[in-house]
Amino acid sequence: MIPNMSDMQTQVGIVGAGPAGLLLAHLLHGHGIASVVLETRSRAHIERRIRAGVLEQGTVDLLIECGLGERMQREGLVHHGIELRFSGRGHRIDFSELTDGRGITVYGQQEVVKDLLAAREAAGALPRFEVADVSVADLESDRPAVRFTYDGAEHELRCDVIAGCDGSHGVCRPSIPDAAVTTYEREYPFGWLGILAEVAPSTEELIYARHERGFALHSMRSPELSRFYLQCEPDADPDDWPDARIWEELRIRLALDLDEGPIIEKGVTPMRSYVVEPMQHGRLFLAGDAAHIVPPTGAKGLNLAVADVRVLAAALRDFYAGTDAGLGAYSDTCLRRVWRAEHFSWWMTSMLHRFPGGHGFEEKLQLSQLEYVAGSRAAATTLAENYVGLGQRI
Ligand code: APR
Ligand code: PHB
Repeated sequence: MIPNMSDMQTQVGIVGAGPAGLLLAHLLHGHGIASVVLETRSRAHIERRIRAGVLEQGTVDLLIECGLGERMQREGLVHHGIELRFSGRGHRIDFSELTDGRGITVYGQQEVVKDLLAAREAAGALPRFEVADVSVADLESDRPAVRFTYDGAEHELRCDVIAGCDGSHGVCRPSIPDAAVTTYEREYPFGWLGILAEVAPSTEELIYARHERGFALHSMRSPELSRFYLQCEPDADPDDWPDARIWEELRIRLALDLDEGPIIEKGVTPMRSYVVEPMQHGRLFLAGDAAHIVPPTGAKGLNLAVADVRVLAAALRDFYAGTDAGLGAYSDTCLRRVWRAEHFSWWMTSMLHRFPGGHGFEEKLQLSQLEYVAGSRAAATTLAENYVGLGQRI
């Protein structure tokens, strides 16, 4: 049990222990800056939560630099390309050749989270899990607060800065007055049914397939674990997708002789694009999904969260060294990359999915675009450099 925390203080109060909040705490620790992370869920819950699994080179480099790369480098699968499949044929996009040797690493987000929690534990600074009734206050003062209840008692954490890392359903973003922000949004008329199966992948590289019956993706987690996605209704009930139906649909859409194995996880993800501008209000700084959401087609969500936090940690280091220019530029700096990723994710999504009620015209455009990407070095390079990530160049 935590003692009475009503007068708790720290330098940076971090709301949310997803990859954004945990990595920020880790980077700040490296700069000698104290923080407290507050999380509504349990440790077991956040370690088990299955999300995407593609790390850009810049994300990999940062994790190695800050001492978190050991297991990732051992267990992560380095890929140098992906396959696009449409009209019954596969076309490889060769990342290494098109982007001066860069690639991606397939390593599950929950593995990154486990590594981050191990580092927090080693530092004796685990998040406060299972807090409730979280709210933020006094954002426009230089001593904002996070209030919450824990074990039935009310607490207040005073700090210099609050990092809102509480994801798409958190409380930080809605605490900013509506008049102080602009939101940009797009919903897609479909979702993804994601499954994890105990079977060796039937491909060496990821396959993104466009098919008349809808999009499909063959991904993986390890030599023994495969990850698949199928375009479905946005409100689909996973129970309407018995295992046999999933395997049959995957075989048709991927046009692949798939090996089957026990399905150990099944869930539906809605598809949404969302950005809030600016990513700051007073002493509250939003990072990761709290500030922006991308549809998963470009695998950018986790990478964007990591990029935000790298900028925020450096700005906070400067702030405590006496200059707040970095914090002042935080939102603009992040948003340049965010909008590039928003465009890329929207473009991949638009090119590869079947749009219900879609017309022949749009389908012809999709196919023309896919053929262009498959056949033109310039077009393939556009896909490749966005997919592996633009690194520090943006
Ligand atoms: N108070 C404290 N914690 C909260 C609150 C709250 N009111 N609301 C939500 N949280 C927690 C969630 O339980 C979650 O653990 O905030 C965390 C947010 O983590 P993520 O959703 O993983 O978001 P983020 O850290 O920004 O990581 C982005 O996650 O959603 C994926 O695709 C996304 O890969 C991307 C990555
Ligand atoms: C995944 O492996 O979960 C994954 C891979 C690529 C994507 C999205 C998700 O575009």
